[in-house]
Amino acid sequence: MLWSSIASFAALTAVVNGQYDGETSPPSYPSPWMRGGNGWADAYQKAQAFVSQLTLLEKVNLTTGVGWEEGPCVGNTGSIPRLNFPGLCLQDSPLGVRDTDLNSAFPAGVNAAATWSTRLMKSRGNAMGSEHRDKGVDVQLGPVAGPLGRSPEGGRNWEGFSPDPVLTGVAIGQTIQGIQDAGVIACAKHFIMNEQEHVRSATPPEYEFSYSSNLDDKTMHELYLWPFADAVRAGAGAIMCSYNQVNNSYASQNSWTLNYLLKNELDFQGFVTSDWWAQLTGVASALAGLDMTMAGDQGLNSGDTYWGSNLTAAVLNGTIPQWRLDDMVVRIMSAYYKVGRDKTSVPVNFNSWTLETDGYRFPESNEDFTQVNWHVNVQDDHAALIREIGGASTVLLKNVNKALPLNKPKSIAVIGEDAHDNPGGPNACGDRGCDIGTLAMGWGSGTANFPYLISPNTALKAQAADDKSQYVNVSNNYDFDAVTKAVTGAEVAIVFANADSGEGYLTIDGNEGDRNNLTLWQNGDALIAHVASINPNTIVVLHTVGAVIVEAIKNHPNITAILWAGLPGQESGNAITDVLYGKVNPQAKTPFTWGKAREDWGTDVMYTFPSDPPQLNFVEGVFIDYRHFDAAGIEPSYEFGFGLSYTTFSYSNLKITKNNPGPYEPTTGMTSPAPTFGTIDYNPAHAEFPPGFSAVPRYVYPYISGPIPTNLPQNWPAHSQDGSPQPKLAAGGSGGGNRQLYDTMYTVSATVTNTGNVKGTEIAQLYISLGGPTDPKIQLRGFDDLILDPGESETFTYEITRRDISNWDTVSQNWVVSAYPKTVYVGGSSRDLPLSGALG
Ligand code: NOJ
Repeated sequence: MLWSSIASFAALTAVVNGQYDGETSPPSYPSPWMRGGNGWADAYQKAQAFVSQLTLLEKVNLTTGVGWEEGPCVGNTGSIPRLNFPGLCLQDSPLGVRDTDLNSAFPAGVNAAATWSTRLMKSRGNAMGSEHRDKGVDVQLGPVAGPLGRSPEGGRNWEGFSPDPVLTGVAIGQTIQGIQDAGVIACAKHFIMNEQEHVRSATPPEYEFSYSSNLDDKTMHELYLWPFADAVRAGAGAIMCSYNQVNNSYASQNSWTLNYLLKNELDFQGFVTSDWWAQLTGVASALAGLDMTMAGDQGLNSGDTYWGSNLTAAVLNGTIPQWRLDDMVVRIMSAYYKVGRDKTSVPVNFNSWTLETDGYRFPESNEDFTQVNWHVNVQDDHAALIREIGGASTVLLKNVNKALPLNKPKSIAVIGEDAHDNPGGPNACGDRGCDIGTLAMGWGSGTANFPYLISPNTALKAQAADDKSQYVNVSNNYDFDAVTKAVTGAEVAIVFANADSGEGYLTIDGNEGDRNNLTLWQNGDALIAHVASINPNTIVVLHTVGAVIVEAIKNHPNITAILWAGLPGQESGNAITDVLYGKVNPQAKTPFTWGKAREDWGTDVMYTFPSDPPQLNFVEGVFIDYRHFDAAGIEPSYEFGFGLSYTTFSYSNLKITKNNPGPYEPTTGMTSPAPTFGTIDYNPAHAEFPPGFSAVPRYVYPYISGPIPTNLPQNWPAHSQDGSPQPKLAAGGSGGGNRQLYDTMYTVSATVTNTGNVKGTEIAQLYISLGGPTDPKIQLRGFDDLILDPGESETFTYEITRRDISNWDTVSQNWVVSAYPKTVYVGGSSRDLPLSGALG
């Protein structure tokens, strides 16, 4: 097709010309000040009242972390003792409270996406939020929309949701609402283009710089920024900027991404915190839109800081205007009030650095040994939700001759280390940094301790006992003699295998965060082939962080069923048993594409770079995952959105109604001038360490010692210190962009019928073709989960918004609806779309 060849031709010329190497990021100043719009008015008012009474030092304290391991949480801001304000506790992770005990370990983000259920996404967020709240956490460091998942090898994709921006956008919005309804600030991360782990940070002498993700403005808007617009629209209180560079400017001091895109165009009202030590400058990052620095010190235990005392000095000598400091603090406190922290807050009752009851309050300095853990049990009844999500996120990829569900099999053999417990316990490896036993989360900071982990072997054995099935199990993936013996003659052989990945600070089995390949770990592929060579009813269960190559498994005649269970959290075994035995009818659809070969994706992690600063060129533009497979005409093993059920569904009766919301008006006018709150005492002597003050070593303070620098360079970016009224952006003006982007342009409905004989849930999906020569063939825009009894029909409805049918126009810097004919498709996967109609 013409459009696909044009798209790939564009990508090809980009490579040939090296057009993205050295791409630059346009300056955008001043940093937009908060205005209290988008449902933030009340919080803004309360924050103003609070901030107005603060001194310079107190304001600085709220912006700056106290240093690594100088407080109970992974991130701790300074406090305001005068007002009994203890400072803020920021804690990982996107799947539960990290580094503590008596908390739940939830299914990973990728599993939440696989449910395609807004109810489950929100409930998961709410349950995680309430656990953070009850541990005393102010800011939960999640959810994740970056990485989006450009390449399946990307180590942290599983912390997020899906390489599709709409599925991720819906999931992040629901999760944020759930977390914040529980009274905790959600921190959407990592902003932005943090799509791989290799060289995310400088690793001198090899690389002096982090990689730069180089991309064009259209790809930014139509793909990577899209879910962050949903995060802002959902009212996210915080956003974490990332380690990498974007178009050769660090994400923590990139005025284009922070000032222009996030705070101006998306009208983000909350605060931006850095990823841990992602900040690399003091004044420049402040002027570029950073509001909080974490962990506060310049590097791990460096004992110095870019802000703290340096921010105090920069305000005192006029380099950073008061309005910019006030804006940082008022944004932080507005987020605090917006989620009701003034009512929900309890003192922090855990310590990230020890699980013992007693420990140091300042562990990095070995100071103040006292009680630091109160072992508060915050799990509530979340196990039931975790089990439900585990079942609802398990994708049934293959099911031949009704191999599943199982019904009291006479004999069952369960094979594979991945079905079994880690002999050292589920938390034996810190931050889950190993692949031993069943895999229920990846590794890195995006983890939580398991309170317990039900392995598949435990749950399946219990089921077998109930059914009086004969049960054998083998955990050694290399002991093929034992495997042969176990599976020979078994009515069903269930073989488990996994593939792991995580954050780049840990290397597991040679994988530095990102995966080195798309094969199964621990001899998994050979194990499956061996079992299937013997047993004609082999069922494969995969616990993988994302796609693996399954073409041989798919085509194997003795493999009767394949299930992808992802990273299901603590109830793993119960959840997979529910699905295998039909207590739960699978509803999940794969939130990513399964290619037949690694090359099929057309994108990959870059493991080494020929130059420094390393250039990571996003030459494929918006063509990642299914957009690429469709454009390049590549048949996947399983397409995006695919998933079987124990019943079947049909689609009929497509109806398209055109709405008339009126024309799209660009936002115009000027902002008000930057406000300031309270007065600043500019006498440097008053900002010095109080006499006799006993400082904790390496703790980051706001006090200055001695004279502050004067006679400064005056080459700060143009307008960066300017607090006068500024023109509004045409595409901005409201949370998530111009409010008319969310007008309903068409209402589409279709009838979905359960045509089988068991109750089931169908995920109806709506895709749109924007019709232009450089547009993807189709793009997901909406979905819903419909629960249907046998024979029952329900109406699926989706309201197509203006954003849904627009392209980003780089010249007018606004969204436009092109003149190309647009088509809507409805069906059960990205390649099974029986209904279509023109959007006239
Ligand atoms: C670095 C990770 O990138 C981020 O996701 C995490 O929240 C912080 N470390 C704190 O642990």
